[in-house]
Amino acid sequence: MRNTIRFIRKGRMVELSGVEPTAMLLDHLRETEGAKGTKEGCREGDCGACTVAIGRLRDGRLAYEPVNACIQLVGQVDGCEVVTVEDLAAEDGTLHPVQAAMVEHHGSQCGFCTPGFVMSLFTLYHNTKGQVTRDQVNDWIAGNLCRCTGYRPIVDAAMTACAKSRRDKFAIRAGDTAGLLSFLADTDDVFVGDEDRFIAAPASVDGLAALYEQHPDATIVSGATDVGLWVTKQMRDLRKIILTTRARGFDHIADTGYELMIGAGATYAQAEPHLKAIDPDLGELIRRLGSKQVRATGTVGGNVANGSPIGDTPPVLIALDATVELRKGKQERSMPIESFFVDYGKQNRERGELLTGILIPKLAANQIFRCYKVSKRFDQDISSVMGAFRMTVAEDGSIAEARIAFGGMAATPRRAKRAEHALTGAQLRDSRAWARAFAALREDFSPIDDHRASARYRTETAHALLGKALIEAAGTASTRTRLIGRREVA
Ligand SMILES: Cc1cc2nc3c(=O)[nH]c(=O)nc-3n(C[C@H](O)[C@H](O)[C@H](O)COP(=O)(O)OP(=O)(O)OC[C@H]3O[C@@H](n4cnc5c(N)ncnc54)[C@H](O)[C@@H]3O)c2cc1C
Ligand code: FES
Ligand code: FES
Repeated sequence: MRNTIRFIRKGRMVELSGVEPTAMLLDHLRETEGAKGTKEGCREGDCGACTVAIGRLRDGRLAYEPVNACIQLVGQVDGCEVVTVEDLAAEDGTLHPVQAAMVEHHGSQCGFCTPGFVMSLFTLYHNTKGQVTRDQVNDWIAGNLCRCTGYRPIVDAAMTACAKSRRDKFAIRAGDTAGLLSFLADTDDVFVGDEDRFIAAPASVDGLAALYEQHPDATIVSGATDVGLWVTKQMRDLRKIILTTRARGFDHIADTGYELMIGAGATYAQAEPHLKAIDPDLGELIRRLGSKQVRATGTVGGNVANGSPIGDTPPVLIALDATVELRKGKQERSMPIESFFVDYGKQNRERGELLTGILIPKLAANQIFRCYKVSKRFDQDISSVMGAFRMTVAEDGSIAEARIAFGGMAATPRRAKRAEHALTGAQLRDSRAWARAFAALREDFSPIDDHRASARYRTETAHALLGKALIEAAGTASTRTRLIGRREVA
């Protein structure tokens, strides 16, 4: 058992004792360490001013990911390297290529957003090869807001920096850093605090399940992209926190060819290529979910366990007929994901029970899948309405099974069973069946008005999304319909 949190800063190990469960990385950097280059803007993961780079070993190689320090717990960086804007320049003061390019292209005016942009660009610099495209850069910086310079000079700076050789001091010492990270990846359970107030990070899934069973009143934290805001916005004092991040294998992803198993600890960034391989619409959905920073730590498991009616992945997983796997102590069980969402804020999960994984059947050759997210902003926004559709088409062209699920239409993400019924057995191109399904969809849901969308808007949007899915599934307007609005990004 270890009673400290350890990570790497500036090539050296930092070891902290007495870390408060809800201590945030941003506060540690600014207040304790005095590294005030990292800024605080929104404190809710939206503006990117607090972006730092987190170095981790991924498949044995050092990888840098951008993270919002304002909603990261200090405990979450155990075993990682933390890089801030202060660390980028060379010892003799020579600016890092991304910093130099920002100067060259006048990428900064008031400068408040600049450290966050620089850190996002630093991770872009380390994660791509060859010339990057404007779309790639736009995607990468979708989680960084600038209200005075404008984005064009920043995108130009990114393209200039990435056009050069990518051999900065971090690349040169990558082997040493990887060695240090391997040293930090011990098999000790981490437990900082006492039985009444602690932050813990068990090193194994068995340890995780046992500790949660023992402390069912604890808060499980994976990416903290939801829980972080409970602390920074709702000012909740979470006395007991159990992190899933160190539990070996909890982020495992396995593809059998027929099914995809996503460990509950897998981040969106880890899951993205696997989900994209099931269907391009899934790749597009993940690309628009939060930002690079959110996807670097946020998990599909957290999205499901959270049970939000407007989470993006639950409608998709319901339409795909996924199964959730749960574990309490040594006891394991599983259920169809649609039975997991009981009511607003209520999931079919016992106290002390972990979500351990999500099993997703892959599409059969006769199945057509579509999903669409409608939100006020294209990037980095929660859905107003989210629709997901899976049609199984029989040899005679009829719909053997329709699975239709929506988010943002009820207290939980759920299926449109009346609309499904109206389509089942009908020919895919039968416009009378479509009309029956549109009418049935209005019976399926009575959405609410809220600040995101009115009930009428939600109803009309759901109707339009079902229409789009049917048009595309029927092949009426060719695959062009599907590709409109999509920028293919590596
Ligand atoms: C800026 C920003 C943008 C966002 N954009 C989107 C968006 O576009 N679409 C969207 O759907 N969401 C969005 N979110 C919400 C959030 O990113 C997702 O819900 C994310 O999937 C949560 O995962 P996490 O690992 O961070 O969960 P955490 O915050 O760690 O946990 C979330 C909840 O799940 C529980 N939990 C986590 N893992 C487990 C487990 N294994 N077993 C049991 N309980 C568990 C926690 O106790 C908590 O109740 C956004 C958040 C931010 C800050
Ligand atoms: S301060 Fe805005 S994302 Fe962290
Ligand atoms: S330079 Fe002022 S907010 Fe970006």
